[in-house]
Amino acid sequence: MGSRQLLSKIATNERHGENSPYFDGWKAYDRNPFHPTKNPEGVIQMGLAENQLSFDLIVDWIKKHPEASICNAEGVNMFKDIAIFQDYHGLPEFRQAIAKFMGKVRGDRVKFDPSRIVMGGGATGANELIMFCLADPGDAFLVPSPYYPAFDRDLGWRTGVQIIPVDCNSSNNFKITKAALEAAYDKAQESNINVKGLLLANPSNPLGTTLDKETLKSLVSFINQKNIHLVCDEIYAATVFSSPEFASVAEVIEEMDCNRDLIHIVYSLSKDMGLPGFRVGIVYSYNDDVVSCGRKMSSFGLVSSQTQYLLSSMLSDDEFVENFLAESSRRLGKRHGNFTSELEQVGINCLKGNGGLFVWMDLRHLLREKTYEGEMELWRMIINDVKLNVSPGSSFHCVEPGWFRVCFANVDDETVEVAMRRIRAFVLEGNDRSSSANATTKSNKRWQRNLRLSFNSRRFEEGFGSPSVRMSPHSPIPHSPLVRART
Ligand SMILES: Cc1ncc(COP(=O)(O)O)c(C=O)c1O
Repeated sequence: MGSRQLLSKIATNERHGENSPYFDGWKAYDRNPFHPTKNPEGVIQMGLAENQLSFDLIVDWIKKHPEASICNAEGVNMFKDIAIFQDYHGLPEFRQAIAKFMGKVRGDRVKFDPSRIVMGGGATGANELIMFCLADPGDAFLVPSPYYPAFDRDLGWRTGVQIIPVDCNSSNNFKITKAALEAAYDKAQESNINVKGLLLANPSNPLGTTLDKETLKSLVSFINQKNIHLVCDEIYAATVFSSPEFASVAEVIEEMDCNRDLIHIVYSLSKDMGLPGFRVGIVYSYNDDVVSCGRKMSSFGLVSSQTQYLLSSMLSDDEFVENFLAESSRRLGKRHGNFTSELEQVGINCLKGNGGLFVWMDLRHLLREKTYEGEMELWRMIINDVKLNVSPGSSFHCVEPGWFRVCFANVDDETVEVAMRRIRAFVLEGNDRSSSANATTKSNKRWQRNLRLSFNSRRFEEGFGSPSVRMSPHSPIPHSPLVRART
């Protein structure tokens, strides 16, 4: 009786991933969030892949179209119809609008069929839904690394599916090679693991790069030859701001022979439109059985009918959509360009990227030792001294220590400027250190100080949750660090 487990195995296993040191940075931010006037020494949040650069365009549209909302005088006549709508097929006009929007995001080079749109609760829900449709507990999906940390939770926690990383590294700018894919596949076979598919995030989180058409074609050939599934998470499709332009798997399969029953796209409006709170996720499958089963399963993660209603109107406005997509990508490109060139001026390079809401920053030269411990030490220094929350490569399962993901679209220009000032000071201080005669002593002192700081931060974690700890009003922490950290 005493040993009887009260909760389920899923509830009590650790596959939600929230115990990772990755979240310490979030806690540091929440304890001491930056504010330009109220807390100018606080931690700047650069670990959040949010797109906040184009909200004004959406707000303008909403003001001009009061009838698209059901909670005001202009739209309330639709309130009852929308409030009671709960069909898991979704509003037909919503499916049409989303299908059209997905086409526009891909430059109208490809058309999407509204009858294949299946709703999920964000891409999080959509990714889990597609796993439930394609794999059994114990089965595996190959995922190129570095990869989005919450894939461990989304693909595997409740489904029991395992991820097999396909290791990519800087020797070829983190490109996925056929050899690495074959090696991961063969290793799984040798261990009697049933590989059901390959999942790609294209554009990549955390790399901010897109797959070129040739690579994408070779990946489609690979899965076709092995007769396994290909899931393309294209959540960052419209964040691409420079060439090469984004090539979707939807285009690639038009140009080659392949079994379309194996191809599935996951999409969401969380990044491209900056609406993660709306929880609009989509599975678009070319496989009729997946569409049919996925639709039934979507009952567990529908998009609210109120959201569907608003978006059906907004996304069917061609003029708005075309302008929004062009302007959003222009603003992202500008922010990215300024940020990376300022980093370059202080000797910090980033992987050359053309999309996403982040850069993949190379700090290998600042590591005291080229190990994960070295990476964590540097990371603590960045959080505690520089007071920036960036994400260490190890949390993305990167095989090379020293890479960090820095998000650039969730803060305003002034905050980026403060962040840059801090980075500059940190790097220049480091240069002084190494050029001075007693560099060793100084840097030892610095390291001792940092170790002390990380010790302090650990102590803080232990006391975390105590009422004396000051939290930001928007803190996700009392609920779950992963709620926002997963982005
Ligand atoms: C590659 C990738 N997939 C899925 C998600 C989850 O997105 P959503 O907010 O739509 O659930 C994210 C969020 O950061 C992501 O980066």
